[in-house]
Amino acid sequence: MHKPTPPSLSGLPVIGNLLEFQKDRFNLLRRGYETLGPIFTIHLGPKPVVVLIGPEYHDFLFRETDKILSMDRAYQFLNAIFEGAAFTAGPSDYDAQRHVILAPFAGKKMPGYVEIMVEEISAWLESLNERGEFEVVSLFQRITQLVGAHALMGKAFRDEMNDEFWNLYAELSAGIDPVLPPNLPLPKFIKRDRARAKLGGIIQRVIDERRANPQTHADFLQDFVEAKFKDGRPLPDELIISIVLGLVFAGHETTAGQGSWALILLLQHPKYLEMVRAELDEHFPPGTPFDHRVMRNLRHLDWALQETERLRPSADVIFRYNLEAYELGGYHVPKDWLTMLAPRVAHVNREVFTNVDDYDPLRFSPERAEHRVADHTLIGFGGGRHRCSGANFAHNEMAAFVALTLQRLDLELLDKNPGVNYGLGAPRPTPTWIGYRARTRTIEPALVVTA
Ligand code: HEM
Repeated sequence: MHKPTPPSLSGLPVIGNLLEFQKDRFNLLRRGYETLGPIFTIHLGPKPVVVLIGPEYHDFLFRETDKILSMDRAYQFLNAIFEGAAFTAGPSDYDAQRHVILAPFAGKKMPGYVEIMVEEISAWLESLNERGEFEVVSLFQRITQLVGAHALMGKAFRDEMNDEFWNLYAELSAGIDPVLPPNLPLPKFIKRDRARAKLGGIIQRVIDERRANPQTHADFLQDFVEAKFKDGRPLPDELIISIVLGLVFAGHETTAGQGSWALILLLQHPKYLEMVRAELDEHFPPGTPFDHRVMRNLRHLDWALQETERLRPSADVIFRYNLEAYELGGYHVPKDWLTMLAPRVAHVNREVFTNVDDYDPLRFSPERAEHRVADHTLIGFGGGRHRCSGANFAHNEMAAFVALTLQRLDLELLDKNPGVNYGLGAPRPTPTWIGYRARTRTIEPALVVTA
């Protein structure tokens, strides 16, 4: 006899739980977990989605990805942007391109990226007055764009890049819609396709220039232009364009949202902020170089970033498509349903963490190490074979932003309790103004030391 399907959260006719999912999915999914247990069903429109909460079930999803659970089928709505690259590639295409996507993230390249991050963040800091205000979410988004443009496509591209690239990118991302069929003749989809064609043209020109003048460029694009498949064929230009746009998609809003939260949460918790400041004064006093070696000593900052990942993960949901039915936890989950992890809810699981709603970065210190009770307790960067390849890049960018900003400025949170903006793309804080005052009269440019 068939086991039952996982219990369902009640919802509206036809649209099911869709509206609440779009408006406030944390509370929807937490209610599901607290009332129905670690496996339950929600309905996004007509589509049943099984939600799995708990390390053992996270293991299951990561292990079964590219087997009975499909990543590319779940993320088909991204095809119009970067079809055939990274998580929109089927398992065999993904296998063929995996080494290419991972190449720019090799550890030896990281000091160069940190140098770029410090350069962009310092340029912003040097542009500030003695005192003033900034809106952290749009500011950090701009910084992640500049860092991304420079690291992905080189300094010349970053310098020449005008707002055209990012305005087109904004039109592209406004056309991301996980619910509606992507080929409907709607204005937002028409704009999306036009923007995609223009962005493709811009990136194509840089590729052509690289192929015509092969010199050494230390950026992602150069890695892709020189990359070969295992059988010796070079990557087609259209695939390179898709990979570049895929990395922009995966990397900049996510980092901007989570990094903004990291600073906001510190300012909301002055006691812990003092610990981070003390550590910065010791290892990163004004006028000293900031690099990946300094970062290794900033343990309190590292725990603050992990606590931010726990409480405010930018990737708050992870989807898979069931190619086959499976049985789990006493339930039968049918073929063609979706399966989902919910990092934001998984991170307030009382079986893993204590005082789950409190901001307490010391829970990640070696003495407490709450996350070590099992594998896959902290899943803000995913897990398994498809774990975020940009996790270190993002971590370093967030760490550099918080460390350099705190070293130079005294800050006051003017919007005391920012909310979560779910909108399109990754969830991020609602616009949050921060008041600043320079800590030293003269702001020295950060010295950068590479390995
Ligand atoms: C705080 C910032 C970031 C967060 C929260 C984040 C989160 C994630 C998550 C959860 C996944 C797995 C998705 C899944 O299993 O369905 C993922 C995959 C990925 N991320 Fe990130 N990411 C961040 C930054 C970045 C950056 C900066 C880059 C690149 C520059 C990047 C590139 C990628 C790529 C290429 C994948 C696909 C990996 C694969 O399929 O093998 N991410 N990310």
